Amino acid sequence: MKILTIIPTYDEIDALPVTVRRLRAAVPESDVLIVDDNSPDGTGQLAERMHADDDQIHVLHRTAKNGLGGAYIAGFRWGLERGYDVLVELDADGSHQPEQLPELLAVIDEAHLVIGSRWVPGGSVVNWPIHREIISRLGSLYSRTLLGLKVRDITAGFRAFRAETLQEIDFDTIESVGYGFQVDMTFRVARHGRVIREVPITFKERELGDSKMSGDIVLEAMANVTKWGLGARLAKLQKRWGRRS
Ligand code: GDD
Ligand code: MN
Repeated sequence: MKILTIIPTYDEIDALPVTVRRLRAAVPESDVLIVDDNSPDGTGQLAERMHADDDQIHVLHRTAKNGLGGAYIAGFRWGLERGYDVLVELDADGSHQPEQLPELLAVIDEAHLVIGSRWVPGGSVVNWPIHREIISRLGSLYSRTLLGLKVRDITAGFRAFRAETLQEIDFDTIESVGYGFQVDMTFRVARHGRVIREVPITFKERELGDSKMSGDIVLEAMANVTKWGLGARLAKLQKRWGRRS
């Protein structure tokens, strides 16, 4: 099983080396792809030095901060072209524990997408500000209800996809720029009738650097979820009317 862990970065110069070191120790068989959006703090240059020291670490440079969604799509394309069997998403900031990645990989044979979940029994958040927890829980509840999904942690960013799961997704039609990308991916995998498994994780708020979360990111996700949810319902109704007439 060829594994690629993709780490998107924007201004993560302090956190990235710690996270990558932990990942290399916890899952040495996984290659690493850092996707940097030309971070002003020099994260991209640091990643190049890490690549020079370790041939399992690779770097993709993009020209400007174009959002989490675009960074992951570029990373997925890179990995699929190179024949990886499993593609993992991991934040650079230490919120996702690389030591828990084996727990996700342990069930990848049974699911097309494995989500490291904060909101299933056994999952938790540490040091997360209460307003972030409320936004995340409400966002998951809203998305779950409108999109008709059973997933508890829909915006989660710690995930493992089988290559075949990604191969059937048309990346060109993904419009989400921010964290709504995670909801979009979950919805698409579910609509293809694929199996999604959630395993509990401990999500720790970062100690180094700053979050890139913003009001715009939340609004984008909410607007898209509303559009997709109503669109799917409308399509169902049209089908029913079509059968009657
Ligand atoms: N290349 C690139 N470009 N990387 C980005 C960008 C971007 O525009 N925006 C964020 N990132 C990277 C960060 O550098 C970090 O490695 C990761 O994406 C997550 O960003 P954070 O800013 O730390 O996210 P968060 O902690 O606020 O959000 C967490 O919760 C969200 C909601 O549940 C993450 O786990 C998200 O993945 C999750 O969707
Ligand atoms: Mn974070």
